[in-house]
Amino acid sequence: MGKISLQPNNDYCPQTLFLYGTYDEQGNPDFGLFCWFSYIWNEELGVMCCIGGSKLTKDNIKRSRVFSANLVTEELLPAADHLGCVSGSNPDKMKINLAIGKGAVLDVPVLEKSPVVFELEVIDIITKNDADIMLCKIRNVLQDESLSSDESVEQKLMRIAPVTTTANTYISHDGRSLGKWGEPMKQL
Ligand SMILES: Cc1cc2nc3c(=O)[nH]c(=O)nc-3n(C[C@H](O)[C@H](O)[C@H](O)COP(=O)(O)O)c2cc1C
Repeated sequence: MGKISLQPNNDYCPQTLFLYGTYDEQGNPDFGLFCWFSYIWNEELGVMCCIGGSKLTKDNIKRSRVFSANLVTEELLPAADHLGCVSGSNPDKMKINLAIGKGAVLDVPVLEKSPVVFELEVIDIITKNDADIMLCKIRNVLQDESLSSDESVEQKLMRIAPVTTTANTYISHDGRSLGKWGEPMKQL
């Protein structure tokens, strides 16, 4: 079968989803949903991510230089979809049922239900037009104790069920559609 040439897009390239946790100027937690997230090696493992446009998450990170990145699982998806579709400028955004704790090392809000949480410190920001590309140091990884069990990696992944996204669709770890963006939040 041949190939066709297309305009820039990343369909069929699944991306892992994270909820970024920050505090606003009043000290209230805010979470936003993000997928432009990957890793870098700079003497040790680090993180790079891109936040486009104007967002409360971006304002909060630029001010505090710290945030948490909480792995999104199927259990968290309805809330995650809401947090990705509703702007932090909406005063009702965070009025949903979320168990929020605190980072162990940094002053960042974390989600109790997320099995893997990175506590991140921004070491550099590259600004291009309205996009900010952030390079981050991983100050701590908060991981569920259950992930230290003797099960195989595959069994653990099936159990925690991380969600990926591509083509405006949420995909389960075992390959099922979990709905288009904006659909899972209707279950809240
Ligand atoms: C599935 C999904 C993935 C997203 N990924 C990103 C991303 O990687 N970068 C970005 O700038 N915005 C991304 N967004 C948009 C933000 O989540 C959205 O603007 C959110 O309202 C930001 O919340 P805040 O205003 O509280 O920061 C994504 C949205 C969805 C639904």
